[in-house]
Amino acid sequence: MINIIEPRFFEEEEEAILSILKSRKITRGEWTKAFEEAFARYLGVKHAFTVCSGTVALFIALKALGVEGQKVVVPAMSFMATIDAVYLAGGVPVVVDVDEYYTMDPNQLEDAVKKYNPKVVIPVHLYGQPADMDAIMGLSEKYGFFVLEDAAQAHGAEFKGKKVGSLGHLSAFSFYASKNVPMGEGGVIATDDDKLAKEVKKWIDFGEHPAFNVRITEFQAALGYIQLKYLDQRNKRRREIAQKYKEHINSSFVHPAEREGAYHVYHLYTLRHKERDRIIKFLKERGIDARVYYSYLLNELRNAEHLPVDRAKVFKEEVFSIPVHPYLTEEEVDVIIETLKAVEVPV
Ligand SMILES: Cc1ncc(COP(=O)(O)O)c(C=O)c1O
Repeated sequence: MINIIEPRFFEEEEEAILSILKSRKITRGEWTKAFEEAFARYLGVKHAFTVCSGTVALFIALKALGVEGQKVVVPAMSFMATIDAVYLAGGVPVVVDVDEYYTMDPNQLEDAVKKYNPKVVIPVHLYGQPADMDAIMGLSEKYGFFVLEDAAQAHGAEFKGKKVGSLGHLSAFSFYASKNVPMGEGGVIATDDDKLAKEVKKWIDFGEHPAFNVRITEFQAALGYIQLKYLDQRNKRRREIAQKYKEHINSSFVHPAEREGAYHVYHLYTLRHKERDRIIKFLKERGIDARVYYSYLLNELRNAEHLPVDRAKVFKEEVFSIPVHPYLTEEEVDVIIETLKAVEVPV
């Protein structure tokens, strides 16, 4: 099977894990500190706090912003954690449609802001594609809401030369096994704002008020630290594969378009086709993993307040993702292309 999720670790990670075991310093040590510093430096922000998952990163960021009883806008297409974190933090989600790039539609966002006066807006850089952060930050200045980027799928993605995760007031990353920087489980809350950083810390360090233990271990931090060093190189490979798909796969598929000014990092390569289910079956039978991200809309999943989500409704029925991880060989990429060409022949 050509896998869609394929984290890989090498000698460098093996040596680091062994050295941590031998040192007996397995949590709250130098690796965690080094990873937080390296990740903040990579994004170009002052603060990066590790936590145990992307969901917890979103939850704590929302707690730090104080969303109890307040409206929070999320896009219709994302992993369910984006909306669940809002409920868990005591907020009231409002769902808006996506644009043609599968990220929050800024035009509809403005309608939602006028109608609901949200405290926070969560753009999701879905599949590795940056949301339209110029438009969203413009609206934030105009209407005064906070922007929390859900960058769980977009490590290393850029918008107009700046890293996603450094563009809003706060951002949340995930380091789940499938992500562009995998450490098994893990998350980061990043911000350039000292005041917000202080609020975040209250939820991470014990003492100020009741809090959870949300720490990662040194093992996870070491994996993250080493994987981060190779992120740019591996994202480049993802983009090369994406380019090849765009050049060689038949035009009856809708390929992911790149937003102007965006550096898309292809966490997932997501195509659209009306016969999606038949195509997935065809691919799987031939040893290629293909999956639907996601088979639900957030408003439907949690019966949430929403504006009309017409685009997302169509996309949900047609999207499917194929392997694009950086360890695919040229031969595997060719097999995927040839199989997708063959699927076009009417059966
Ligand atoms: C867009 C998005 N948001 C949030 C999360 C939650 O991250 P985690 O699985 O680390 O809790 C994920 C990943 O699974 C995700 O893809």
